Amino acid sequence: MSNSTDELFKNVISHAKEYGFVFQSSEIYDGLSAVYDYGQAGVELKNNLKTYWWKAMVQMHDNIVGLDSAIFMHPTIWKASGHVDGFSDPMIDNKDSNKRYRADQLLEDRIAKLDEEGKTSEAEELQLEMDNALKAEDLPRLKELIIEQNIKCPVSGTANWTDVRQFNLMFSTQVGAIADESDTIYLRPETAQGIFVNYLNVQKSGRMKIPFGIAQIGKAFRNEVIARQFIIRMREFEQMEMQYFVRPGTQKEWFEKWKAARLKWHLALGTDEAKYRYHEHTKLAFYADAAYDIEFDFPFGFKEVEGIHSRTNYDLSQHEKFSRKKMQYFDPEVDPETGKPFGNYIPYVIETSIGLDRMFLLTMINAYEEEDLSTEEKQDSRTVLRLHPALAPVKAAIFPLTKKDGLPEKAREIMDALKLNFNLQYEEKDAIGKRYRRQDAIGTPFCITVDHQTLEDNTVTIRHRDSMAQERVPADQLEKIIGDLVSWKNLLG
Ligand code: GAP
Repeated sequence: MSNSTDELFKNVISHAKEYGFVFQSSEIYDGLSAVYDYGQAGVELKNNLKTYWWKAMVQMHDNIVGLDSAIFMHPTIWKASGHVDGFSDPMIDNKDSNKRYRADQLLEDRIAKLDEEGKTSEAEELQLEMDNALKAEDLPRLKELIIEQNIKCPVSGTANWTDVRQFNLMFSTQVGAIADESDTIYLRPETAQGIFVNYLNVQKSGRMKIPFGIAQIGKAFRNEVIARQFIIRMREFEQMEMQYFVRPGTQKEWFEKWKAARLKWHLALGTDEAKYRYHEHTKLAFYADAAYDIEFDFPFGFKEVEGIHSRTNYDLSQHEKFSRKKMQYFDPEVDPETGKPFGNYIPYVIETSIGLDRMFLLTMINAYEEEDLSTEEKQDSRTVLRLHPALAPVKAAIFPLTKKDGLPEKAREIMDALKLNFNLQYEEKDAIGKRYRRQDAIGTPFCITVDHQTLEDNTVTIRHRDSMAQERVPADQLEKIIGDLVSWKNLLG
């Protein structure tokens, strides 16, 4: 990370705290590693990101419906899905510092360093060796690579490593009051399984016909070996996932469609296309026959934000086997080749899975700007979050110019007429310029000032966040002016 990108990332993190977006969990107890809380501005931004996703996926598709399944599920689900046996990361400990690392991440850092030093062919060779070892689950080979590359623990500075071991990422807990009789259950590591086990409930009760999708937003939990990069790698996080059930043999076509549709969703926010790229998985998860990540260029490099996975009929077949309940769908459509209905089959599944917290961080980083406003006469600057207006936590701030002469009452009256439609903030403290800066810092698109003229002709000054231009408009036009700019139509219309 260069100094300026390092600086940018640090500034975004401190800005997120200072303005009520993200706090370290349990901060007064020195925090809980890799767990974060969203503050008053953060929860609004997060809710708006959820709404953007839900509208795009559910509301805009008449063959996609929502679901809200429980976090706790029958433990056999995780046996069937392969998570009990296969959902693990290779880890290694340094014997001198007692620090634990992910073996693949130590190697990835080394590859990035080789790349930075212009040793491209060495980097490519190491990447290939590592991919092969991961694919073959050859843990001794991963250790060999770490030793061969002379990778040292950043804390102890030594290469005194333990063997590489697999570390299961699922959190477990007990259900039932009596310890001896209680069962071990897991906190879900992905929301997708709640969709799989409910797919026939939704299909039958909703009379869904293939192809159809089920979408869900919810918490997922992973005991990540190492917490890294703020809200990029958390132990409790939120996913927005959609499983699209398709006829076997059509999965490739739907995979390509969803791959393109999901990138379009990201780009509609106005993000520079060069900041995104696709990354094809070489090491496929145990359930997938094709997988791409959508990666974003964070200050610390390109990182996965969303995965598009062709999950075959693996999960549904596994649940059929473990639950001994039929997971087949009856397709009444006639196959043009045979002239007969397609009949019974277990559908194939295309999954789109985006991490809400990573999307949140991406949005903050993208929007954050330290703008120099200096003129020849004076130095000046502001920090502004250029969020898409539909995502902005507060849509407009209402300021009485002073705290007297009936201006606060008039400002409150204007606010009352708008607050059902928009999230607003009322502020009367400090000079107007200071109040503008506070709103710029949380990305509020409009500041509305009520002054003495308002009392005479019911007009207000409206100041735009990005251009900082001000105009005088009748107060009764505010609903339309704000509504037009923050409308979801601008993103999804
Ligand atoms: N159901 C498929 C699945 O869970 P994944 O690639 O493991 O796939 C999907 O996760 C998305 O969830 C990732 O693209 C990432 O954005 C997010 N994610 C995964 N682990 C995370 C973590 N520890 N902290 C924050 N977000 C995470």
